[in-house]
Amino acid sequence: MRSDVTLRPLDENRLLGLLNAAVADADPREVMPPVAGPGGWTAERKAAFLRFHHSRSLSAEPVETTYVIVVGETVVGAARLCPLEDAGHAVEAGVWIGRSHRGSGVGGAVFRHLLALARTAGFASLFVNTKPDNTAVHRLLAALDITPVRDGDAVTAWVDLAAAG
Ligand SMILES: CC(C)(COP(=O)(O)OP(=O)(O)OC[C@H]1O[C@@H](n2cnc3c(N)ncnc32)[C@H](O)[C@@H]1OP(=O)(O)O)[C@@H](O)C(=O)NCCC(=O)NCCS
Repeated sequence: MRSDVTLRPLDENRLLGLLNAAVADADPREVMPPVAGPGGWTAERKAAFLRFHHSRSLSAEPVETTYVIVVGETVVGAARLCPLEDAGHAVEAGVWIGRSHRGSGVGGAVFRHLLALARTAGFASLFVNTKPDNTAVHRLLAALDITPVRDGDAVTAWVDLAAAG
C-alpha cells in the first residue's frame, strides 16, 4: 500500500484547496450532486460545491465526515464516511480522486484508511454504492474478497469491518 497517501479532516482552511483540486482535475459530476445549467465548473457550480461541503460536513450538525486526500503535500481528492440510519452500526464510504492521480494506487490506500477510520469510530460495517462499469471500485472490493450485488444500474457491497483487513 502507498505510504504517501494521507486523509486529513476537511475544515474551512482545506475547503478552498479541495475546490481547486476538483476544478483542476475532475468533472463536477464526479464530485458533487448535479446542478442545473451549462456543464463544467461554472461560478454557480463552484458555489454549490462549497455549499455542499458546508452543509454536509462543516455545519453545526454534520451528516458525514469528509477527509481531504493528500499525496505528499498535494490535495488530490476527497473521501467521506456517512453514518447510515436504520442500518445498524453501518457507514457509507465515498471517494473521488483527481483524474491525473487515478490508477496509481491512491484509491487502494484511501480505501484502507477509510476501513481503519470506520472501524476505529466503532462502525460494524461499511457500505459501498457504485456502478456496474466502475472497475476500479470492483477491484478494490475484490481485494477484500467482497462480491458486490448488482441491482439494475446499482452495485452495492457491505464490508464486515470485523473481518476486513
Ligand atoms: C474509483 C477511484 C476512487 C479509484 O481510485 P484509483 O486511485 O484510481 O484506484 P487504484 O489506482 O488504487 O486502483 C484500484 C484497482 O482498480 C484498478 N483500476 C484503477 N483504475 C482502473 C481503470 N480505469 N480500469 C480498470 N481497472 C482500474 C487498479 O488496477 C487496481 O486494481 P488491482 O489492485 O487489482 O491492481 C477513482 O478512480 C475515482 O476517483 N473515480 C471517480 C469517482 C468514483 O468513481 N468514485 C467511486 C464511487 S463509489
